[in-house]
Amino acid sequence: MLSTKMENALNEQIKNEFSSSFVYLAMSAYCDEQNLAGFAHWLRMQSQEEYGHAMKIFNYIQDREGHVVLKAIPQPESQYGSLVEVFKETLEHEKTISQMINELYALAVEEKDYPTQVMLQWFINEQVEEEKTASDILAQVKMIGDNTSALIVLDQQLASRSPESEDK
Ligand code: FEO
Repeated sequence: MLSTKMENALNEQIKNEFSSSFVYLAMSAYCDEQNLAGFAHWLRMQSQEEYGHAMKIFNYIQDREGHVVLKAIPQPESQYGSLVEVFKETLEHEKTISQMINELYALAVEEKDYPTQVMLQWFINEQVEEEKTASDILAQVKMIGDNTSALIVLDQQLASRSPESEDK
């Protein structure tokens, strides 16, 4: 059985993951408007992945016979100045999410909630990957600068991202 404190914190994280999903979907729309179909696709896949993260916690609360509370998510930005800005924000966003996951883990330790610690280990690993990917793409976008040919190549590469498998 989840403690009330743990349950509240996990419900808050469901909101944060759905909020991430919305942020990336908004970024995807921006890229689509810039005729960057590959970037738009990559961000749409990222949005779906965040939806999956929210549902992972949603399912976990239910498995522990807890009570799911879906909270309102903030409206994301709809305008971005540049691709560099999009990926700077992506990296900062992922760092913030990593901090949130770490705080959840610290709470699970404090509450002596071992199953939640095990569940959160998946997220801790995932955040290492998420930060690295965002950082790599940001570095590439910065390197490309005004080089349109290089931008088209990267756009084509990002177009090949496939959806995450269910258990990932
Ligand atoms: Fe679910 Fe990108 O953190």
